[in-house]
Amino acid sequence: MKTDPSGRVALITGAGGGIGRAIAKRLAEDGLKLVLAGRTESKLIETKNLIPGAEVSLVTGDLTDPAFPKNCIEKAISAFGRLDILINNAGLAQSQPFETITPDEYDRIMNTNVKAPFLLTQAALPHLRTSDYATVINIASVTAHKGYPLQSVYSASKHALIGMSKSLANEVYKDGIRVHVISPGGVFTDMIRITRPDLSEEGMILPEDIAEIAAFFLEHRTNAVVDEVQVHRVGKEPFA
Ligand SMILES: NC(=O)c1ccc[n+]([C@@H]2O[C@H](COP(=O)([O-])OP(=O)(O)OC[C@H]3O[C@@H](n4cnc5c(N)ncnc54)[C@H](OP(=O)(O)O)[C@@H]3O)[C@@H](O)[C@H]2O)c1
Repeated sequence: MKTDPSGRVALITGAGGGIGRAIAKRLAEDGLKLVLAGRTESKLIETKNLIPGAEVSLVTGDLTDPAFPKNCIEKAISAFGRLDILINNAGLAQSQPFETITPDEYDRIMNTNVKAPFLLTQAALPHLRTSDYATVINIASVTAHKGYPLQSVYSASKHALIGMSKSLANEVYKDGIRVHVISPGGVFTDMIRITRPDLSEEGMILPEDIAEIAAFFLEHRTNAVVDEVQVHRVGKEPFA
């Protein structure tokens, strides 16, 4: 059975490119109203221009600024009067030997990948509680389940995001708020081009594939609840 999320309001962080942009395009097809957040206004405008006809509001800022998550939620309320769906997609990766990671770099990754989703969700919850379609989708990673070399802090941040998602899901489920996680392997975006320049587009997951999974959660708000989807690229061993 399918359900219809049209007319609901979704906030997508990191919507200026990669997976966030693909999610914005896909949810616009379903008639959602969108608040697109990111650091770089020109990239957000590019995303908006790719979805003509959609109702879109933009909010520019840095999620490591503790005031910005609240600004994002306020933008959704001022633009559309409600918030139904929060997609914590923005993230920062790393490819660095353990001994060389500075405390500042550690903070930057943890603040972007864990603290920002925490602050965004905290600010969103009062609004989600009044929605009939309340959903949080957190974009984690295959590194939330495994420990690849040179990705220690990134991996720690994604393990933390999964842990937070599991606990939150159980805390707010009774209130009708669903918390889903998508844990992708290598997706062909700027992030992977920078952290894994050895990988080419061939055989990679595409951002549109991940967007399809995000749309699935929203198009199937049924009695069959999918908590997490783990996705690996085609060249990787299944169930590894
Ligand atoms: N690509 C992969 O292989 C892969 C695999 C598993 C999980 N993921 C996860 O998927 C999510 C999206 O990644 P992606 O691959 O689409 O990467 P991307 O192309 O690098 O996009 C990341 C987005 O996050 C935004 N962002 C980063 N730091 C921010 C900050 N401090 N404040 C506000 N916005 C910030 C960026 O904004 P600006 O463009 O304005 O800088 C950008 O739009 C991330 O959480 C990532 O960890 C990616």
